Amino acid sequence: MKSRFLEWATGRGHDIVRYGPSFAASSAVLRALGLAAVPRFLDEAREVGVRDKEAWLYALVRSRRPERVVETGVCEGWSTAAMLKAMRANATGRLWSVDLPTYDPAGSVNADGRREGAVIPGGMEPGFEVPAYLRDRWTLRLGDARQVLPKLFDEVGPVDLFVHDSEHSHAHQRWEYELAWEYLRPLGILASDDTDWTPAFREFARLHDPAGHRTLDLGRRGLIGRPA
Ligand SMILES: C[S@@+](CC[C@H](N)C(=O)[O-])C[C@H]1O[C@@H](n2cnc3c(N)ncnc32)[C@H](O)[C@@H]1O
Repeated sequence: MKSRFLEWATGRGHDIVRYGPSFAASSAVLRALGLAAVPRFLDEAREVGVRDKEAWLYALVRSRRPERVVETGVCEGWSTAAMLKAMRANATGRLWSVDLPTYDPAGSVNADGRREGAVIPGGMEPGFEVPAYLRDRWTLRLGDARQVLPKLFDEVGPVDLFVHDSEHSHAHQRWEYELAWEYLRPLGILASDDTDWTPAFREFARLHDPAGHRTLDLGRRGLIGRPA
């Protein structure tokens, strides 16, 4: 079936895969990250009802078939549900999520003094959008990632994929990226949402992948692969 959104731009030195308005990557980087099949799984994400916002995570998990995934930032649970849905389709994988829920309708103010608007409606639990049939592969730890994440990594051991989406301050993003990098398996992937909030992701990428061969920068989101 021809993709509704995929348009391959090849020739004249270009080798860019585009998918909708927010996904454009060099096919060499996709290959280096083991993500050559991502366009097919972006289509599949739509077919199985994953929202466009989380389709990149669904496609990432379908493509790489990770055994162990850690994410920070759950809130309603859309990213969590998308990754669990992909794991169910893969028939393998386990997800550990960390969340410090915010219930104040005004949101919270992060370490950079910026307001973060991700709020859980009163009376609801973090991850309330995760359907019961997907929960058997999921462990949720509540608390501040600063306290919970180091212990969780020690317990879970090396992971295949880490996804940041908790506090989007500069120092916190850098801290999570650096910690997760230590616990990523060779060829594992560090992924981050909201990379446009601070310079942290691009600084981190320059440090750990100066040539950019293993970095996929999607503007608001990014991935960096650990070398073999
Ligand atoms: C942007 S939302 C996550 C959205 C979710 N990943 C998705 O895409 O569906 C960010 C979440 O991280 C939580 N959070 C903020 N600071 C945190 C911290 N220091 N540790 C853990 N979670 C935190 C927020 O309360 C909120 O629930």
